[in-house]
Amino acid sequence: MASILDKHKILEKNATLLLVGSLLVVSIGGIVEIAPLFYLQNTIEKVEGMRPYTPLELTGRNIYIREGCYVCHSQMIRPFRDEVERYGHYSLAAESMYDHPFQWGSKRTGPDLARVGGRYSNEWHVQHLANPRAVVPESIMPSYTFLEEQEVTVKGVGMDLRANENVGVPYDDDMLANAEADMKAQADPNADTTALLARYPKAKVGDFDGDPARLTEMDALVSYLQMLGTLVDFSTYDDATGYR
Ligand code: HEC
Repeated sequence: MASILDKHKILEKNATLLLVGSLLVVSIGGIVEIAPLFYLQNTIEKVEGMRPYTPLELTGRNIYIREGCYVCHSQMIRPFRDEVERYGHYSLAAESMYDHPFQWGSKRTGPDLARVGGRYSNEWHVQHLANPRAVVPESIMPSYTFLEEQEVTVKGVGMDLRANENVGVPYDDDMLANAEADMKAQADPNADTTALLARYPKAKVGDFDGDPARLTEMDALVSYLQMLGTLVDFSTYDDATGYR
């Protein structure tokens, strides 16, 4: 024991030797962590069902970011038993691959929202966002009543899709060309949504905010909340192999 410490003293007393030794240790650690990434085909496992956001969902997501919902809500279910029992299957990397920037969050003042889609009705969300205490008396979440008043325009949504395409989201020409029409159609209960649903499978369609005449920020945000975590079909997903 004493002799090892004695040898270590040589290192400690010689700054150059200590530097060389430290670099050696750090680079071994670095190689062990970094080198395998170059041999992996893909660091994100492939999962069926993921698709880019519809123009309306993307607009809702922008409102989610603008309002800072991520300050109180995470969107990442960790692979722990208590989380999986409360929120559902733990989040997969692929589920946030079209998120620029990702919305994992870092604090849960409110619950995780990664799988909140389909858990409540549209009416519940509208009521809750307008006045959280109307549905959850002890809630400390702020009211977002103004979302019902603020109309959104479809102008410019194509640019938003294109910006996402530039950073790697696979929006095709068809999606880009129909961005404005798709955004209108998704929240219009009388629209023909066949083409929209072919482009964006599983998209929730219809009036979201309870006011079919207007396209509001509430429509956009609720359409986003209602799709969260709904794309991957976990009945066909296997934890070990990815597929069943
Ligand atoms: C100050 C923190 C805070 C902010 C900011 C906040 N929330 Fe919440 N949220 C909460 C709390 C606390 C709850 C749990 C009580 C409740 O249901 O109201 C909650 C609950 C929710 C729920 C219900 C989740 C569930 O599984 O029951 C949804 C959906 C939600 N928030 C969406 C949002 C959205 C969208 C925004 C941004 C527009 C937002 N929240 C901003 C604190 C916050």
